[in-house]
Amino acid sequence: MAGGAHFDVGRKDYPGKLTGFVLLTCIVAATGGLIFGYDLGISGGVTSMDPFLKKFFPSVYRKETADTSTNQYCKFDSQVLTTFTSSLYLAALVASFFASYVTRKLGRRCSMLAGGIIFFIGAALNGGAKNVGMLIAGRILLGIGVGFANQSVPVYLSEMAPARYRGMLNMSFQLMITIGILIANLVNFGTNKIAGGWGWRVSLALAAIPAAIISVGSLFLPDTPNSLLDRGHDEAALNMLRRIRGTDNVEEEYKDLVVASNESKKIKHPWTNILKRKYRAQLTMAIMIPFFQQLTGINVIEFYAPVLFKTIGFGDNASLYSAVIIGVVNVAATFVSIATVDKLGRRTLFLEGGTQMFICQLIVGTMIAIKFGTTGEADIQKWYAILLVLCICVYVAGFAWSWGPLGWLVPSEIFPLEIRSAGQAINVSVNMFFTFGVAQAFLAMLCHLKFGLFYFFAVWVFIMNLFIYYLLPETKNVPIEDMAVVWKNHSFWGRFIDNDEDDNGKPPQTPEV
Ligand code: BGC
Repeated sequence: MAGGAHFDVGRKDYPGKLTGFVLLTCIVAATGGLIFGYDLGISGGVTSMDPFLKKFFPSVYRKETADTSTNQYCKFDSQVLTTFTSSLYLAALVASFFASYVTRKLGRRCSMLAGGIIFFIGAALNGGAKNVGMLIAGRILLGIGVGFANQSVPVYLSEMAPARYRGMLNMSFQLMITIGILIANLVNFGTNKIAGGWGWRVSLALAAIPAAIISVGSLFLPDTPNSLLDRGHDEAALNMLRRIRGTDNVEEEYKDLVVASNESKKIKHPWTNILKRKYRAQLTMAIMIPFFQQLTGINVIEFYAPVLFKTIGFGDNASLYSAVIIGVVNVAATFVSIATVDKLGRRTLFLEGGTQMFICQLIVGTMIAIKFGTTGEADIQKWYAILLVLCICVYVAGFAWSWGPLGWLVPSEIFPLEIRSAGQAINVSVNMFFTFGVAQAFLAMLCHLKFGLFYFFAVWVFIMNLFIYYLLPETKNVPIEDMAVVWKNHSFWGRFIDNDEDDNGKPPQTPEV
């Protein structure tokens, strides 16, 4: 069987239910996704507003206005502009490593709080920016905020959730990301119409609202039992577990958490530990999943949807309008994933979404090739543009119920406690690095690869489908501190784990195929 990937292992069902308390805490924590989403959505729109370009990037503005009749593929090729967009991701990349320390030593909610506050300051700086320096400084602070939130929120959600609902609860993070993107698109739509030319300030300053929500929210959040135990608060951990599971009958789960926490306490250096052979599978996933998530090309659509639509012939407003349509599809399709992930499993969603994206990319690439050829000049008809937007929507839906939420869920649930924080930092930093890379390269790539850009991403999506098919075992319904069994039972990854090496303190099990 392919990759020995369909085991039904670790089928432990601890008592307890999905309590209102857990639901509430998870919703509050997930609002950490709003800051990331808002930022992802706002940048594309703001950088296509003329008053913003005129003030901060006059050379880009001049090129854009002077260039009306030339190659559509190369119109917006400006490294300065992409550096502005990308500086946030580099900051987030670095910050996630600091966050991993805070998350492990001081608890998950501490990182969330730090993320919210720093993001808030960044938003204020951006809204009031007088020069490029202030703009970039603000963006760096936003990036630090995102680094902290993205490092801690997914882990928090996965630890709080009962195994049976972990997929669903964790995905509320991605849901908030997509809502953030949608709100940002709507905000841009409105602020672009402000006559005085200061609409961009409103767009950037409003980022303070989601920042305030997660900052205040995290003040009221309890820490996870896993983190409490890990930091030596045994009694509090037990009480918290009872509270979040809504029953006193939590002995079995608590025992497993204690075993995991004892393992974790032996580890002084998670960073060297994560490199051990027995964690090869987890390390590979922490690197490859975020890498692949970005190589789906989603952010080419997210960042530059307005630019892209302008390029393919929509007017100024129409381009933002299209971005709003994409935003709604993104949110709606995420619900599909939330509703099905714990039943269909991670692999099914990954593979279906991947196939859907692959087909759409081929169609979009071909449609653009037919119209624009290699010269990049075309007079695009309305129906053709509408068809293109439709294909892009189907592509976004595919992403939104697969790699979008799963790119955050899977890495947050596969690590044993002792390396979870470090593993999640790797996930965030790789994600940010390639978000940065794709953003930085996109305009140049569009200019040089032309319509081939879509084929380029299609090839990557094909490769990631193979990767998932052969190498990712199913993790649905497996208790988080029991996950080692899944890797041990996998026909490929099992080879990296010695039989006498028992991560969960339980006797090694044989694969049921
Ligand atoms: C990704 C982002 C992306 C967003 C789109 C997230 O999971 O990490 O890079 O822009 O989904 O919805």
